[in-house]
Amino acid sequence: MLIKTIDSFFNNFDHVLHVARSLQYKTEVYPADNTEYPGIAKDIPDPLKRAVCRKICTQTYMPVDPVLTFFRLSVPGPRAPHYVHTDLMTARYTLLVYMTEEPGAGTGFYRHKRTGMNKHPTEPDLIQAWVDDQRDLSLWEETNFVPMKANRAVIFDAAAMHCALPTTGFGKDISDGRLVFTMFWNPVL
Ligand SMILES: [Fe+2]
Repeated sequence: MLIKTIDSFFNNFDHVLHVARSLQYKTEVYPADNTEYPGIAKDIPDPLKRAVCRKICTQTYMPVDPVLTFFRLSVPGPRAPHYVHTDLMTARYTLLVYMTEEPGAGTGFYRHKRTGMNKHPTEPDLIQAWVDDQRDLSLWEETNFVPMKANRAVIFDAAAMHCALPTTGFGKDISDGRLVFTMFWNPVL
């Protein structure tokens, strides 16, 4: 499963961070799973979006169709109800760019201990196991971990089981919280 990390992703990182900190963050309901996600800013300037698409293309050799792009701020408080999840309902691939950092924070990738499941399931019994166990990380083996470092990008197969760490987020607000640029994208075939 593709997991590629790229350090120094944004040439103008300080500017992008300034843009991110000037946006409005609110709780959004995502129609695909009818779930509330707090701390989302979707009003991404088009030039930034285009620059990211070009950069992904140079890294993956795939032309990029961005499906959903946003910054996400995760601080202790209300949060999305699931931990171990996939992004496949939205697109084929996920790009994250960490805008802040904290020791122990990052993105974990997982295999379900009992069933061996590590990607988006299709069999009913695996779907049930995922639903039952997605909030208990002790039931999952961490197979990979990408440490959160400012301006580090990670690109991965959206079907991969993963989780934002720490699950509580960190910091107190936009000045120091867990802040990530996210683009869910499909290759243009
Ligand atoms: Fe995700």
